[in-house]
Amino acid sequence: MSAVLEFETTNGKYQRVSVIIHWLTVLLMVAIYASIEIHQELQRGTTLRRLTEDWHIYLGLTLIPIVIYRALVILRSPIPPIIPAQANWERLAVKLMKAYLYVLMLGMPLLGWLFLSAEGHAVSWFGIPLPAIAPESDGLAEAAEELHEVLGQSGYVFITLHALAGLYHHYIRKDNTLKRMTL
Ligand code: HEM
Repeated sequence: MSAVLEFETTNGKYQRVSVIIHWLTVLLMVAIYASIEIHQELQRGTTLRRLTEDWHIYLGLTLIPIVIYRALVILRSPIPPIIPAQANWERLAVKLMKAYLYVLMLGMPLLGWLFLSAEGHAVSWFGIPLPAIAPESDGLAEAAEELHEVLGQSGYVFITLHALAGLYHHYIRKDNTLKRMTL
């Protein structure tokens, strides 16, 4: 087990596997948000509208195993330090932000799956049927859909902050924060 979860850091950077998964996650998140934004612009009843929702769901569900694997790797492998070191409050802010991003990346797909199950819709991953994860319930469906919407909107703010922080560290602080996340 440790061979697929524990990796050494080299050149002060994140493990290759963590770097690849990080940028793959970025691509997936962009595609997940783009598909739902396009979906909402399209006229009801069109094939393209249905297709963009299907892809939103497929890509969102793809994120679940990827994020779980990434979280396990990060928990089991050393994190390369930021040089020069950050102040304690900055370290705390980074930890909180990362925790929030994990809640978003894992919570959003689960909430989507949950509210569709509670609405009685069949959920599939690229055509492979998945089980319902909640009993049919109007109240539960409504609450989970509302949370999916609010958390989803908050994602725009926090993902932007996360990206801006990376650029700030690289171009203004000129530390190795962003370089650690390159191959
Ligand atoms: C990280 C993963 C995901 C993110 C960031 C995300 C984000 C969003 C956002 C921003 C919206 C628009 C909410 C609004 O403003 O009305 C939305 C809608 C929706 N999402 Fe997700 N979502 C994710 C995963 C999923 C998954 C896995 C499913 C289903 C299994 C799902 C099902 C839906 C559905 C059905 C809608 C409403 C479409 C409509 O009828 O307009 N989402 N999502």
